Amino acid sequence: MPSADTAIARAPILVDAATLSGPRFAALPPLALYVHIPWCLKKCPYCDFNSHEAKGDAPEAAYVDALLADLEFALPSIWGRRVASVFIGGGTPSLFSAGAIDRLLAGIRARVPLAPDAEVTLEANPGTFERAKFAGFRAAGINRLSLGVQSFDPKHLVALGRVHDADEARRAAEAALSIFGNVNFDLMYALPRQTVAEAAADLAAALAFAPPHLSFYHLTIEPNTLFHRYPPPLPDDETAADIEDAVDAKLDAAGYRHYETSAHAQSGRECRHNLNYWQFGDYLGIGAGAHSKLSFADRIVRQLRHKQPKQYLEQVAAGAPLQEDGAVTREDVGFEFMLNALRLTDGVPAALFAERTGYPLVLVRRGIAAAEARGLIERNPALLRPTALGRRFLNDLQALFLADKPREAK
Ligand SMILES: C[S@@+](CC[C@H](N)C(=O)[O-])C[C@H]1O[C@@H](n2cnc3c(N)ncnc32)[C@H](O)[C@@H]1O
Ligand code: SF4
Repeated sequence: MPSADTAIARAPILVDAATLSGPRFAALPPLALYVHIPWCLKKCPYCDFNSHEAKGDAPEAAYVDALLADLEFALPSIWGRRVASVFIGGGTPSLFSAGAIDRLLAGIRARVPLAPDAEVTLEANPGTFERAKFAGFRAAGINRLSLGVQSFDPKHLVALGRVHDADEARRAAEAALSIFGNVNFDLMYALPRQTVAEAAADLAAALAFAPPHLSFYHLTIEPNTLFHRYPPPLPDDETAADIEDAVDAKLDAAGYRHYETSAHAQSGRECRHNLNYWQFGDYLGIGAGAHSKLSFADRIVRQLRHKQPKQYLEQVAAGAPLQEDGAVTREDVGFEFMLNALRLTDGVPAALFAERTGYPLVLVRRGIAAAEARGLIERNPALLRPTALGRRFLNDLQALFLADKPREAK
């Protein structure tokens, strides 16, 4: 006999007419602004971000003009909405001068209402570090710095093709903390030939600075990268899992909460901008290849801007920055919400599903039943929260919601 769980999981999802007619929002989600700067000193062999080697100087003045024109073009789609956070990412935004970032932020403030306590983050590469420049970013209004350290081990920095050495990383880290206070370090693990002891030493080197936030990314081999073409010798899955366990235990003991798959923070120092993505908030992305997700009273749209910097500059000048613009379908929205929310250790209140997707939770009933039956999600009607097992097998958990395509009620 099938268990009650299996019976629920197999039952067709019958949705009422209101569910089929499109989303309905009583209030729109919080809004964040992402700004993409697509140039780096040198392309790293593992990176598939929309980043391009700046041959000579990046055209920063023309690009800031284009970003502000792009923002003006987007204003009708966010009219009257307050921006809760700004994230200037890349690429390597710290390649730009403090003057360019100052003009960019002044232009943003003049065009959209920025919350008085808005978190304003800039990504920086230690290879572009100058103390005066960091101080200039702070004076321009950047109040959080995300530093791409990757590793403090000289041999791993070389293997990763980084433009900076360990001393530069240390100097940038020390200056970032003294100038901004609110700082994240990006570190990667499961690096070529990395041992558990080496990863633990990297973490200890990072913890010596006591940054409020640490992001730990499992190095992944992405298509269209040099590492994909010439794969380096990576640690096996067992070693990678041992590194994760060791890192988790040390960070926990040092007072950091593992609040999201790759993110650890001291209390109250979680990244508000990224939390908004994981809680399925709205975001406007400006700049080359930037993605947006915007809600309106009766629909959610996703947009993509032209990816190549040269083409982006031309298309903005022509008044047409968008390469793609389309509504999120009912079939996709449940999966997209769960994909994000289940990355959070605490999950989200179940009521947030309807608030942020505009549809009732019944849309993902089959996935929830299957995840509960496998012990991947907590059995708590008020919460959508992964169990420890669900966090470990996150891909499997997320995949259960892919199949959740509702069938129409007869
Ligand atoms: C846009 S970059 C950050 C800033 C700057 N570009 C830098 O690299 O210093 C974002 C972060 O993604 C991570 N990352 C990039 N490619 C990755 C990959 N293939 N696997 C895992 N993490 C990756 C790195 O930790 C990197 O710092
Ligand atoms: S510096 Fe950062 S964005 Fe640029 S190529 Fe390297 S990892 Fe990618």
